[in-house]
Amino acid sequence: MRQSSLVVVANRLPIDDSVAPDGACEWRRSPGGLVSALHPLLRHTPATWVGWAGGTGPAPRLPDVDGVRMHTVPLSPDDLRDHYEGFANATLWPLYHDAVEQPEYHRRWWEAYQRVNQRFADATAEVAEPGAVVWVQDYHLQLVPGLLRDLRPDLRIGFFLHVPFPPPELFMQLPRRAELLRGMLGADLIGFQRAHAAHNFAQLVAKVLELPATDRRVDVGDRVVRVGAFPVSIDTAEMAALAARPDVAARARRLRRDLGDPDHVILSVDRMDYTKGIEQRLKAYSELLAHGHIKVPHTVLVQVAVPSRERVGQYQILRDRVEHQVGRINGEFGRVGEPAIHYLTQPPERAELAALYRIADVMAVTPLRDGMNLVAKEYVAARVDDTGTLLLSEFAGAAAELPQAYQVNPHDLEGLKQGLLAALRADPADATRRMRAMRAHLRANDIRAWARSYLSALDDGDSLPTRLTRTG
Ligand code: ADP
Ligand code: F6P
Repeated sequence: MRQSSLVVVANRLPIDDSVAPDGACEWRRSPGGLVSALHPLLRHTPATWVGWAGGTGPAPRLPDVDGVRMHTVPLSPDDLRDHYEGFANATLWPLYHDAVEQPEYHRRWWEAYQRVNQRFADATAEVAEPGAVVWVQDYHLQLVPGLLRDLRPDLRIGFFLHVPFPPPELFMQLPRRAELLRGMLGADLIGFQRAHAAHNFAQLVAKVLELPATDRRVDVGDRVVRVGAFPVSIDTAEMAALAARPDVAARARRLRRDLGDPDHVILSVDRMDYTKGIEQRLKAYSELLAHGHIKVPHTVLVQVAVPSRERVGQYQILRDRVEHQVGRINGEFGRVGEPAIHYLTQPPERAELAALYRIADVMAVTPLRDGMNLVAKEYVAARVDDTGTLLLSEFAGAAAELPQAYQVNPHDLEGLKQGLLAALRADPADATRRMRAMRAHLRANDIRAWARSYLSALDDGDSLPTRLTRTG
């Protein structure tokens, strides 16, 4: 078995086994923030990525992707149901996102979570060379740091949580809360998106495990585990370059024409997830139409909602409700050839996404809760002419870094409507000033800066830069 000095461990590999329209099997970039963040970062790095390839059955042997070795961990149909769809996405995901949907607790799911985490730890132990750096990602794999430390105490282990870490009153619901915290504490460094997540973690460790803990370190007896906030980012330069490409500019002009050359295009791009606030946003938009504040075809909404976790009941219900809502709004406010909402569920290619960002006068990113939200950052990076307004939920991690966005509370329907109107009516000079400031922030705080700060903190036992722990 070939071994690497840097191993990234994430539930998903950066490519996904999907079925093309003609029924053939094809490999596509996996959707979601984690892959968007890590894929450009690792490109041409001598690293191994340990993850799941998206299907069930035996693990396929995959070629290197952009010079990175792919090491596949198989999931059986039971693992898929009980680990991925169950404990990860019907217990932890809703619990960590303010319980906006009810988390479910089942003992069988917990068994699967342990089993799959053990499989990931075993696979990682095989491919990590002596003394390697191992970087474990996200809520699917919270037990891996502890399991891996038992197998390979020689490794330097980092853990990063891409999603929010909930306050004690929510986390305390979890039947296996102590085991999850202990699993994370197998790492040398635990990274969160926001400082208050690190604070929640420290409080829980002190309460549940009775260990001495601050927002920056936990004393586990023979070791110190460091804790900090490292807000994840994007490849800002790459998105800006893509958006500036002549073919993307031409595509943007074409898209705008196809939309009927409206005065205002509002865009939203989400995975179809109940945390993204899609229903609330559509309701705000329809009320603005109903009260005559905005009119079709002068203003149109493009909503991209890519289906996600499609076998999980809450996601099926959401999709039905969103599609019902879109149908109702289009029926009520659209005309032949002039829909109020252009609704797309096909995953856009990167260049198409950049063209969409270019035509969006207002980008509406209004999740009820989101660890970071990279779509918001991509939009800012793509606005190479410093125009456009970002409407951003206070409950997205990105809000702490982008104070110049028009910020709204997506639970407050009136506030959401006012925010949308304010963003649509923004003074162009003010919008440019805001956009410039946000773009400057993202140029300085891109994905490479994120990785550098995390990995240097992981490398250097004592010096966690305070700048990182102050965000949020
Ligand atoms: P989440 O991780 O919850 O899905 P984010 O907004 O943080 O939310 O990240 C979504 C990421 O998925 C963005 O980087 C976006 O560009 C990317 N994305 C959107 N559509 C696709 C697609 N069709 N294929 C791959 N990635 C996509
Ligand atoms: O961090 C959010 C997350 O779970 C990531 O792991 C991933 O980028 C994204 O959502 C997509 O989710 P899934 O892997 O379940 O399709």
